[in-house]
Amino acid sequence: MMQNLAWIDGTVVELSSAKVSLEDRAYLLGDGVYEVIRYYDRCLFYIDAHLDRLQNSARAIRLMLPYRRAEMIAAADDLIAKSGYDNGYLYLQVTRGSAKRDHLFPEESTPSMIMYVREMPPLTPLEQVKPLHLITLPDERWLNCHIKTVNLLPNLLARQKAFESGAAEAILYRPDGVVTEGTRSNFFAVIDRVVRTHPATNLILPGISRQIVLDILVEKKISYQEEALTLEELQKATEVWVTSTNMEVNPARSIDSLILPAPVPGPVCLIMMKEFRSRIAASCNRNEH
Ligand code: PDD
Repeated sequence: MMQNLAWIDGTVVELSSAKVSLEDRAYLLGDGVYEVIRYYDRCLFYIDAHLDRLQNSARAIRLMLPYRRAEMIAAADDLIAKSGYDNGYLYLQVTRGSAKRDHLFPEESTPSMIMYVREMPPLTPLEQVKPLHLITLPDERWLNCHIKTVNLLPNLLARQKAFESGAAEAILYRPDGVVTEGTRSNFFAVIDRVVRTHPATNLILPGISRQIVLDILVEKKISYQEEALTLEELQKATEVWVTSTNMEVNPARSIDSLILPAPVPGPVCLIMMKEFRSRIAASCNRNEH
């Protein structure tokens, strides 16, 4: 039987009947961090990198993860097996637990972790990936964007605005014109034959998919720079793509009024899409040692 299942601090329940406390600090105050991890053929893709980032996010908000890595991986694998979906994503959230509402951290509360799985279609064949239209919008987020927190309102507002203007994603820029990332993706552009992406600073989320693309660029000896690029420079882009757990590597056909030259995906993006897929195909090897 296939079913959406949730794991709440060790207890497995049907997702639709899963309950957490009304006073959970993530619910009342956004006091929590999360991960979204894709799985293909029941193999969690880059699970270690995601759990490293979860650890960093938790540390940054002064939260101790309540479980050891091996326990989290065992619970996740078990949930995927019980759910019965071959392809999907695992959502994982850690909060400071339930306590009387107060801006101060509670003296006594136990951090809480939830996970759930939802089905997703298998990986889209390369030829069927649809190039996106993107728009640029001001980046109204705080200065700790490297923390994967559940406080996502600025991202949601920009994403909604993009949707309402017919764009699949909004690419955000700071007041100085520096392009940071998307509302739920990292951003790459090819400018003067060099691949450019914002460095992994406090202004972006260090995406797992972003890092995979950087690894591929190194392996393929393609020149790239992790250097801030501006809206002005973007006008010279010959290729643009976004990366994320849910979108993998997805090319853009246009950004604002700029139409990118055909073919889309361009030559560099095509290599990234192909190599990204090879890594997905190889990811099940994790279970074989
Ligand atoms: N978002 N930047 C932001 C702001 C993101 O929210 C995400 C991912 C990324 C890409 O990171 P990764 O390659 O590790 O998925 C970049 C997830 C998928 C989400 O919130 O649904």
